[in-house]
Amino acid sequence: EKGTYPHYMLKEIDEQPLVIRRLIEKYRNEQGELAIDEEIVQAVNEADRLYIVACGTSYHAGLVGKQLMENWAKIPVEVHIASEFSYNMPLLSEKPLFIYISQSGETADSRAVLVRTKELGHKSLTITNVPGSTLSREADYTLLLHAGPEIAVASTKAYTAQIAVLAMLAAVAAKAKGMALDVDVTKELGIVANAMDTLCDAKHEMEQIAREYLATTRNCFFIGRAVDYYVVLEGALKLKEISYIQAEGFAGGELKHGTIALIENGTPVIALATQEHVNLSIRGNVKEVVARGANPCIISMKGLDMEDDRFVIPAVHPMLTPLASVVPLQLIAYYAALHRGCDVDKPRNLAKSVTVE
Ligand code: M6R
Repeated sequence: EKGTYPHYMLKEIDEQPLVIRRLIEKYRNEQGELAIDEEIVQAVNEADRLYIVACGTSYHAGLVGKQLMENWAKIPVEVHIASEFSYNMPLLSEKPLFIYISQSGETADSRAVLVRTKELGHKSLTITNVPGSTLSREADYTLLLHAGPEIAVASTKAYTAQIAVLAMLAAVAAKAKGMALDVDVTKELGIVANAMDTLCDAKHEMEQIAREYLATTRNCFFIGRAVDYYVVLEGALKLKEISYIQAEGFAGGELKHGTIALIENGTPVIALATQEHVNLSIRGNVKEVVARGANPCIISMKGLDMEDDRFVIPAVHPMLTPLASVVPLQLIAYYAALHRGCDVDKPRNLAKSVTVE
């Protein structure tokens, strides 16, 4: 039940710190160490390549998962949109493991790929919020998101839970291979949960941003580089899905190859800056759009922040920033939809689980 909340989406955004803390408890052994079913970890480490297959928000979590798996567990990863994979299958590696990410576990596009890869004899892991769901039953292994029911059509807490589970899987896989990982993931996720608490308390600021930038606009651009690029894709999807504002996420450096032509006087451009190695370049991209009249809103991370930033998120581990930086984007989308009189929890033309191909 949504209790005192006006919408499920807002309740589910607020539940995110709790979900992260719950996941830390669920994926921990008696000694308090991070632990995941050994069979699953073995399947991951035996694969020569991981193929993450998903749709929508779950696909965006998969992109962040690639970053985590490749950096921490040193396993090459490809991330595919399920509906594309079905009809345009890439050349597969010798020993692939398929990872299906799905909040509902019922998405038909993802299931179609699972059926096909099973026929080909490939192993599969489903990461889902729903125990006993179709994708969970049909895959070899399952990891649960423990996020509690997600009712709002716009996915929020499932996205952050998916990334947290992928981070834990990457860390455990690295450790099982005897690799020295200089990150205490449990501790870092605890820091993330605290940062999320702070971010959930920033509703008033996010409402202001939504009012100021998005009250009447026809479109909005989101830009980021490196992992921030993956998060802005998600920020743009959230905004378009519930507020019907045409929103696009772009890699900062790619704008000049065409899209910058769309910038007009007053076009809102929301930029994420949480990564040190691209901090100056994303800011360069912001200058490029400002020179064409854009109205910039920079959301940066503590330690990398600069004078004109509109909002600064608390510092978290650089590989885990999506868990924090997505929260303001979710809230901005929520308030933009609210102010524009949209049905936040049940946007037009959409269903919570898409069970047709
Ligand atoms: O249940 P799934 O995670 O498989 O659903 C995938 C997408 O349909 C879903 O994430 C969709 O993009 C959301 N409505 C986005 O908020």
